[in-house]
Amino acid sequence: MYVNQNIKPITTRTNSKGNLEISNCDLVDLANKYKTPLYVIDRVTLEQMALDYKQAFSKYEKANILFASKALMTGAIAQIFNRLGFGFDVVSMGEIYTLLNANIKLNKSSFNGNNKSADEIEFAIDNGIDHFSVDNFCELKLLNEIAKSKNKIQKIHLRITPGIECHTHEYIQTGQIDSKFGFDLSKIDKAVELILNEYKNLKLTGLHAHIGSQIFETQVYYDEAGVVLELVKKIKDKFNIELSEINLGGGLGITYTKEDNPPSVYEIADTIISSIEFHCRKFNLEKPVLYIEPGRSLVCSAGVSLYTIGSSKEIEGIRKYIAIDGGMADNPRPSMYQAKYYAEIANKKEENKPEKVTVAGKFCESGDILISDIELNSPSSGDILCVYDTGAYCYSMSSNYNRILKPAMVLINQGKSDIIIKRQTLNQLVENDVLLEE
Ligand SMILES: Cc1ncc(COP(=O)(O)O)c(C=O)c1O
Repeated sequence: MYVNQNIKPITTRTNSKGNLEISNCDLVDLANKYKTPLYVIDRVTLEQMALDYKQAFSKYEKANILFASKALMTGAIAQIFNRLGFGFDVVSMGEIYTLLNANIKLNKSSFNGNNKSADEIEFAIDNGIDHFSVDNFCELKLLNEIAKSKNKIQKIHLRITPGIECHTHEYIQTGQIDSKFGFDLSKIDKAVELILNEYKNLKLTGLHAHIGSQIFETQVYYDEAGVVLELVKKIKDKFNIELSEINLGGGLGITYTKEDNPPSVYEIADTIISSIEFHCRKFNLEKPVLYIEPGRSLVCSAGVSLYTIGSSKEIEGIRKYIAIDGGMADNPRPSMYQAKYYAEIANKKEENKPEKVTVAGKFCESGDILISDIELNSPSSGDILCVYDTGAYCYSMSSNYNRILKPAMVLINQGKSDIIIKRQTLNQLVENDVLLEE
């Protein structure tokens, strides 16, 4: 099984003390040393998935893999992907700044997003972003004006809404026609016309699409490549230019629970490559440079969250709640998307006494439930709970709701652990507060 097909990091085992360990780091020791809640990222698992991506797409001679920073952006994580040769899909000045702060150049990166501000556009151009994925007419005009004011010809892709639905949660579908992202297929001619005739500071080199997230099917990628290449062909016929780049986005699913059954990255790569080969033959096109921009599947399985169990509440005949020292502010996905997670008690238990409980967070919302109805081994106050698959879209979506401090993050690697995000402090929490004078 490949990384994204495992619920747990690939280095997870029970050690001789009876505690869970990942990458030779005892999770109870990590909880004691760094306190909880704690994000833990296993470098071995993360790098294995990154290498699988590289290997799977090495069959296509012109493939560029960008890490979708939105899944997990920190300086250290960016350094790891940069060293592995990945570029970055960024969506904000903050993500760009994080890369620059880690001494990472933007010459392999793409700037996405449906409402980039003038400041963000300028910042990206000034710092040498490779290309923009332009989302709409308003951005085309603004970007051309800014590029012109800098005497620059800026490389762009056009983001399209390919009209492909995938079976995933509604809130994280972005490829269907009714989406806030991208140009409808019917508007593409107008956009190309404007670029060729009016927006002389833009150089259109490709098309970009992203059909959703947590995808379990291969066929949608086959179809997506077909739709994008058919459009390349139509643009070639109508405007006599052959776009040389396509970006098919991210979206490969991972295994959060036993119900999830994602394909491997090798299956996805083979599907995409065979679709490109088929459609390029069919439409008589040169094989384009391929970009993909996975996020979740690169980092999710490498991450776990550690919590300490505190109070509990039993409602006779209904359910038992156990409460942890974190919840919806460090992992908003269950309350936003009804996302499901698997968890285990990390500390040794003398006997196996499974008990069905609901794991509640400590935030002031009834909806702050991390996991409903999970069997845990006699969960009690003081136990360490390990929630799997929190590497993606947890830290990056975290908040200070209830003015609770954001957790630290440690990177572990074969017995070694290093802080890569410090735990927020109370001083940091109030540092932007401006008090009234009286
Ligand atoms: C444009 C775009 N690219 C890539 C991604 C990454 O998707 P995933 O994390 O599912 O791989 C997203 C996620 O929303 C996205 O919107």
